[in-house]
Amino acid sequence: MQHEIDKNMHFETNLLNAGSHTKFIATNPESLPIHLTTAHNVEDLDDLEHRYEVGGFCYNRSKNPNRTALIELMSYLEGGEDAIICASGMSAISTPMITLIQKGDHILSDKTLYNETLEISTLILSKFGVETTFIDFTDLEEVKKSVRPNTKLFYCETVTNPIMTVPDLKAIADIAHENKAIFMVDNTFMTGALVKPIELGADLVACSLTKFANGHSDAVCGALVGKKDLIAKSLVIQKIIGTQVDPFTSWLSCRGIRTLDLRIKKQCSNAFALAHALEKSPYVKDVYYPGLESSPSYAVAKKEFGEYFGGMLSIELPEDRKKLNAFIRNLKLVRYAMTLGGFRTTIAYPTLSSHSGLTKAERQAMGISDGLIRVSVGIENEEDLLKDFLGALEKAYK
Ligand SMILES: Cc1ncc(COP(=O)(O)O)c(C=O)c1O
Repeated sequence: MQHEIDKNMHFETNLLNAGSHTKFIATNPESLPIHLTTAHNVEDLDDLEHRYEVGGFCYNRSKNPNRTALIELMSYLEGGEDAIICASGMSAISTPMITLIQKGDHILSDKTLYNETLEISTLILSKFGVETTFIDFTDLEEVKKSVRPNTKLFYCETVTNPIMTVPDLKAIADIAHENKAIFMVDNTFMTGALVKPIELGADLVACSLTKFANGHSDAVCGALVGKKDLIAKSLVIQKIIGTQVDPFTSWLSCRGIRTLDLRIKKQCSNAFALAHALEKSPYVKDVYYPGLESSPSYAVAKKEFGEYFGGMLSIELPEDRKKLNAFIRNLKLVRYAMTLGGFRTTIAYPTLSSHSGLTKAERQAMGISDGLIRVSVGIENEEDLLKDFLGALEKAYK
């Protein structure tokens, strides 16, 4: 195979091969190299067949070393048997749904979810004869009553977006399994560093690595982790529909996850302090944070999470657009961004972003008012952060 400059060859041919790969593959770099390649060269037909047998590297859409590294890391983080890595959190949620759900199946889902997740059911699966019932997963009686003989999948988020309720995952896993259904949980807000839904009985966990897991707001990526057989089926479909992520994003996500444990614990302690401070503010009508004793989810959250309640909270302000704008503009440290989970504190307004696809009445049914601001807490100094929020509120509402 031509890997060297060959004096007998022409300029344009040598240009293709000079400085190319194998002789520059050095062992033991401190950081895993980025395998930015669409394919891996194969020695001969026997080598190709051998690679198929042992799951070797051939073509990027099927397998890439950076994605394989992230599969190992994510399986460990979430405590699952295996994983697939996808191009976004949404593809980590939609790939198994497309894989595991068939015509005539029924999905039982929490009613408060990230809106695009709701839309997998309402805009896609509904076209193929799949019905979804959206209910309140914190009401276990309602969950039991809503199961049908054809219920194939139970679905919820560890902490619901954006009103921060916490379903009892262990109890729901038991109901799902008594009914021979698969239980899938979106663990984006907490990550396996704070709670492992698989240890509580979930069969599959999806996580948007775009958020807390990577934590640097520079990569869009997702992971699906869980039982080997369910992951194997999802991998077959992933290869067909092409929901895999590229090597550089896989590399960035691995890099980010290395410091997840440190970051998210600081985010939790800042969120805890901020939630308590905002609860006392005369300008804030309500604070939604599972770590507040006033939260209806506190008991379940304490049981499920222990001492860390996550870095996400929401606050209820008066539905006055002028004042909301003034509050947002008065924030100096905190930024307004259509994402969450980064190392800096950001706010979002679900009415105009994550839940803008719903009518006002639909949002209200999920507890989302036009005064709701969602906060993703970062790793800033706690005092600086509280000062920024309380100062901006004072200026806008006094
Ligand atoms: C809870 C939750 N799940 C999934 C997603 C989708 O993630 P991604 O944007 O990486 O597709 C989001 C996005 O905000 C989210 O908040």
